[in-house]
Parts: sequence; structure tokens; C-alpha cells
Amino acid sequence: MPKSFSKYFKRILFTAVLTAILFSCSRENGRQANVEELLSQMSLDEKIGQMCQLHGENASHDTAFLHLVRQGWIGSVLNETDPNQINALQKTAIEESRLGIPILFGRDVIHGFKTIFPVNLGLAATFNPELVKKCAEVWASEAFNSGIRWTFAPSLDISYDPRWGRIAETYGEDPYLVTQMGLAVNEGFQQKSKDKPLFVATCAKHFAGYGTVEGGRDYNTVAIPEIELHNTYFIPFKALADAGVNTFMTSFTELNGVPASGDKWLLRNILKETWKFDGFVVSDWGSVREQIDHGYVTNEEEAALKAVIAGVDMEMASTTYRDYLKKLVDEKKVSLALIDDAVRRILTLKKNLGLFESPYVSPPVSLPAKEILLLAKQAAIQSMVLLKNDQNVLPFSENIKSLALIGPMANDKYEQLGTWIFDGDTNLSITPLMAFRAHYGTENIRYVKALSTTRDNSEKAFAEAIHATKQSDAAVVIVGEESILTGEAHSRAHLHLPGAQEKLIEAIAKTGKPLVIVIMTSRPLIIDQISIIASALIYAWHPGSMGGEALLDILRGKVSPSGKLPVSFPITEGQIPIYYRHKKTGRPASYKSWTKLEDIPVRSFQTSIGNTNHYLDIGFEPLYPFGYGLSYTKFEYSNIQVSSSLLNMNETLIVSAILHNKGNVDAEEVTQLYIQDVTASYTRPVKELKGLKRIFLKAGESQKIEFRISSRELAFYDARGKELIEEGLFNVWIGTDSQTKLKTVFQLTKSETSYEN
Ligand code: BGC
Repeated sequence: MPKSFSKYFKRILFTAVLTAILFSCSRENGRQANVEELLSQMSLDEKIGQMCQLHGENASHDTAFLHLVRQGWIGSVLNETDPNQINALQKTAIEESRLGIPILFGRDVIHGFKTIFPVNLGLAATFNPELVKKCAEVWASEAFNSGIRWTFAPSLDISYDPRWGRIAETYGEDPYLVTQMGLAVNEGFQQKSKDKPLFVATCAKHFAGYGTVEGGRDYNTVAIPEIELHNTYFIPFKALADAGVNTFMTSFTELNGVPASGDKWLLRNILKETWKFDGFVVSDWGSVREQIDHGYVTNEEEAALKAVIAGVDMEMASTTYRDYLKKLVDEKKVSLALIDDAVRRILTLKKNLGLFESPYVSPPVSLPAKEILLLAKQAAIQSMVLLKNDQNVLPFSENIKSLALIGPMANDKYEQLGTWIFDGDTNLSITPLMAFRAHYGTENIRYVKALSTTRDNSEKAFAEAIHATKQSDAAVVIVGEESILTGEAHSRAHLHLPGAQEKLIEAIAKTGKPLVIVIMTSRPLIIDQISIIASALIYAWHPGSMGGEALLDILRGKVSPSGKLPVSFPITEGQIPIYYRHKKTGRPASYKSWTKLEDIPVRSFQTSIGNTNHYLDIGFEPLYPFGYGLSYTKFEYSNIQVSSSLLNMNETLIVSAILHNKGNVDAEEVTQLYIQDVTASYTRPVKELKGLKRIFLKAGESQKIEFRISSRELAFYDARGKELIEEGLFNVWIGTDSQTKLKTVFQLTKSETSYEN
């Protein structure tokens, strides 16, 4: 943590303690921080009240809401971020409810609070968990200053489907990368230390399988074989449970026939019993009640019964717990022990946050604004992925003195921020136009928005954009999707750039000027044609507040691009789902066996054209693979080695390779390590990411890169979730993306068919 950050956190701590002293005199709730003692004093209604979370924007002016607070019916409030209102509600809870139990205030702090950082998928593209942890520390501080002590992050959904708008909120398609990012976000918010209360509590969501909604349509059915849950979808959730994430949020969806918010197997058997998760589970918004819509229960009473038995400790937004739990306990359908267990978990978190001692919002402390913006810029820089760079058109040479800056995303302070930015301050945004004008001089930047939004179909302003391009040395066309086109409930079936943006690009390309296309969005789009037309292509995601400056630094070569794709990019929608970590199959695809659709001789014999695992029309590879991303320099890998060709159980092996910066530009590279379990008692993926390192090398330098692999990292699960580790041959690759060819092998020896966790 930079010095000024830690100084700043100390100040927060100091003011928090001061506030605690000031307010603790108002009521002696501080003494009630003993959870068991408090529990023993609570009525059933008061216990159930702790299990209820309500939307509370402006609630301190709402008499009915205040009445509920006084009666102890509200354990948590979400979506109130005005410190004055938070304090007013808290004061009512502390001073006017019988036991004075503080309210826990929650909010979706997803990729920033006031200062917005790249959207999650972009953050994943940094392949830099250390950086993401620092980012999360900032989001936590800004949110903490507003009184938020619980974030609904990290999102640990894994998705292979860019039609699903919420792919934006994921850290991509790979369980290892999602896990690393999730752990980083968790640590950044919690800021665990011995002598300090938990800073901002975290929430692993959405448990489980939400990223695989059928057809990419939000809220749709989810069906995942149990073996795949254990080997893929559960991996980040289990890792976060082990790392002490504070809460879990259920998914809106069903999982294999049971709505997640009523799934006892998922929440109680797996999460609370097998994984021994001791935090609490919150439902997603209204999802306890939505079990009725799923056709799983007939009414709200049954919905409450299913959810509480399943293990949902707190109900978000709907009120079936408030309305029916008491009746269910009275009728002995729900045991008091089960209620106590839920309340104990909730009160323990409040205690760990120090809420009993310090329930009020600390007086705001001044934030190290400049450093926060620099961090947001660094994250944006590392997130941007250079997909194409023909004839090294980038970085712009000194000969490029004037630019045409075209497109609906080139100067929009709001739209560059992405989804879940409720509290984002658009005044902080620096757009590409602002940054480019500041650097090149206003007179050298010819800006034409050309389309009023990304969805605009009018070609009226194209002539002006073409004219501006002809007058300039090069064109930078910034297109994409507005924030509202990704995120929750924003699924799309067609994944081309919306509106007339492709036509705009074609029109500009015809001028023959160097054409740099920058795409701002939060999902992979279908860009096969654009990638042909572009001289250079940058995927900038929704880059956040500092997107403009980050892009400028990359285009003019102040820094070399280093982002890598956290998801595979399909050539066309028909290829979805496409992901690198797929299983091996019989008849695997290869270029040898693929006869292209147009090349098939008329009336060919049925099996004469190669029966393998491909599409006749587009083959079997993505447009861009997972892990892909170019640099301004040329990195070369060589000399892969293992420290031993045998790896014994419970031992560690070192895999190394030489990375050489062969070009003449200093740059960072994300080195990736993949393994393949060649044969196992259950089929395993063709490749799995098991390590990553961000390495800075000056032009001409070489470095030996080492990864450690323990036998434990080679484990997998059987169809019932039993962990297995099996001897046998493993392939291992080190390289620049998931298609790297630099490979060696080792053997895992002395099989123990299974061992305990
Ligand atoms: C989303 C969650 C979010 C919750 C609270 C729901 O619509 O699915 O991810 O945390 O709302 O805002």
C-alpha cells in the first residue's frame, strides 16, 4: 500500500474510534457486543427482524420504515448512501429500539464507488490480482466514508456466454483467474488486521451457476452436472469461503431443478456443512419470494419455509420472513435453533465490523484524490487489450500530429463507466477527447461524434466524420456499447456493435487513413469484420473514470499495452459457448480434418470429409483466445524446464522458462502457466490455467520465470465432490496465452486415490 494510503487509513480508523466514543454514551449497546448474551435477550420477533434486509433509499424520512426500525424489524438496509440518512436511521435503531442493535448498511460497490475503475471483466484483463486488491481498498474507503460497511462483491460467476449482460460483472471464463480476482477484491475490502475491526464486509455471489443461464438470457434456467459444479463453478466460491469471505448471496436462478434460494443441498449441505462456512447467506433481491414464480412453492409462507430451511439467513427486499417466520416457528415447522443459528451469524458479522462500538458514519476524511485517480488510470491501462497492430501503426509516431477522433464513446463521461455505478461521480471522468485535446492541442483533434448513441442508426453525420478523417493524419474511432446495454437483465442475441457503428467504421476505413478502432464495452462483441478493417484494434472495456488518459498513454506509447483477454472471443454467436478450458473429446478438431463448407465436393460420401469436433463454416477456434493480448514489443519464450520429471504426492515442482523481450520497447508481459492432466478417472480439460505472473522487462532483457506446482493443485473432484489426486502424466505449458505451444511434461507419482481435505 502506498504510504499516503496507509496514512489515510489510519485517519479513518482514528475518526471511527472518535465517533465511537462520542456516540457510545447515547446507549450502552457497546456492552451487548457479546453475541450469545444478546441472543439470549432477544424476542423471536427481534431475532427475525435481524434476518430482514430492506431497500432503504430516503428511508429516514419514511414514517412506516422508521416504525419498523424501532420495532427491531430491520437487520440490514441496502441502497442508502447518504451519511446523514444512515446516521438518522442508525440513531433510531440504537436509541429507540428495545435492544439498540445497529443496522448493517449494504451497497453494490462493484468496481468503484465515487471513482470508477474498469468494469470487472476489464479488471480481470489486467491479470493482476495485486493491483486489483489495491483498487478494492480504494472502493472500500470511499464507500466506508458514506457509511457502507457491506459490499455485495466479489462476483464469482463464471461465464462463457457474452450474450449474458452480466458477463460484465464476472472476472471471465476461468476458475483460476476468477478465484485470484475474487480473493484480491475480498482482501481489499476487508483489510484484515489483528487490532482493527473488519473494514467493509464482503459477499461472494451469486451462488451458484448464474453465469450459465440458458441461452445467455438473464434469470433463465441453469443446469450444471454436479461434477462440473465441483470442478469449475464451485472453485472460486470454495476458495473464498476458505479465505473468510463474510457472506454469500444466492443466485436468482434455479440450479438443476431447485431455486438457489431454496436449495438445501447447495446452501446447507455444501456451503455450511462441507465447506464449514460460518458467515451468513443473504438471498438475492426478492429471490426468496420468486420461488413462487419458479413454481417451486405455492405461496410466500412456503417460500419462507424453504429458504430458511435451505440456509438463507437474511432475506433481501421481499418480506416473507417478516410475515411468516414467526408462524412457522410457532407451528414447529422451523426450529428455534435454526433461527438462532442465522441470527448468531448476522450478529457476529456486526460485531466483527465493530458496529456495536462504532455504529455511526465517521466524519468524512479527505481522500488522496490524486493517487486514487492514478490508480484508476493504472488499472485502465493494464486492462486494455491490444488485439491487432498492423505494421506497428501503434504507438503513434511523432509524424502523427493531428487526429480525427470519431464515435459515440469518444466523449461521454457517463457511458465510459459501465454497469453498477450508482454512486459514480461523472465529474471525475476524463474522456478520450479531453485527454487527447490536452495532449495534442485542441486544434489538432477533429472530434465528430457521428452517432448520437451507440444505438443510433442514422448516417447523417458520416460525411462530417469522413471529412475530419481526410484532414487528419490518422483516425481513432471509439465505439462500443453504452453502459445500459450490459449488466443485469441486459442480454443480447446479436452481438455486433449496435446501431450504425460498423457502417461508420467502414466509411472511415475507405479514406485509407490509418484507422485505430477502440471498443468500449463490457462483453466480447462479434468483431471479426472490424478486426479485418482495423489497422489497430484495442479492447478498452468500460474503462472507468480515467479511461481517456489511459487510452492516450497507450496510443502515444507512453506505456505498452499489457492486458490479456479473460474470455475467449467468438467469431460468431453460433460458437457460444466457447472457452479454452473445454474437455477433451473423441475426434478432436484439427486443421487437417476440417474441410471448409465451401470446399466440400458435391455429393461427397458422408464420412469422407473428416468427422471431427468442428463447425463446417467456422472451424473450431475462437477469433481471439483466452489470455491473448499484444504488446508494442516482441516477447519470446524458450527453454521450458521442470525441476524434476517426477512429482511426488505432497511435494512441489518448479516449472521454468526464459522470457526474452526481443523488441526495442520496455514492456510488461503476463506470463501464463497451463497444465493438462493427460489421463484421469474422470475426463479433464484440454488445458487449465494454474499460474500467472506480470513481468516487466526492458528492451533486450531476458528473465527466467519460475512457477511452483504442488501435487495438491493437480487435484480434481469426482461426481459426488470427493477430492481426488491421481498419478499419471501431466503436460505443462508456459507462454503468452492459452494457445501457447511451449510444452514439457512431468509425472505425478505414488497414487493415493483420495485424501481428506
Ligand atoms: C443483483 C445482485 C445485487 C442485488 C442488490 C440484484 O438485482 O442480482 O447482484 O447485489 O440486486 O442490489
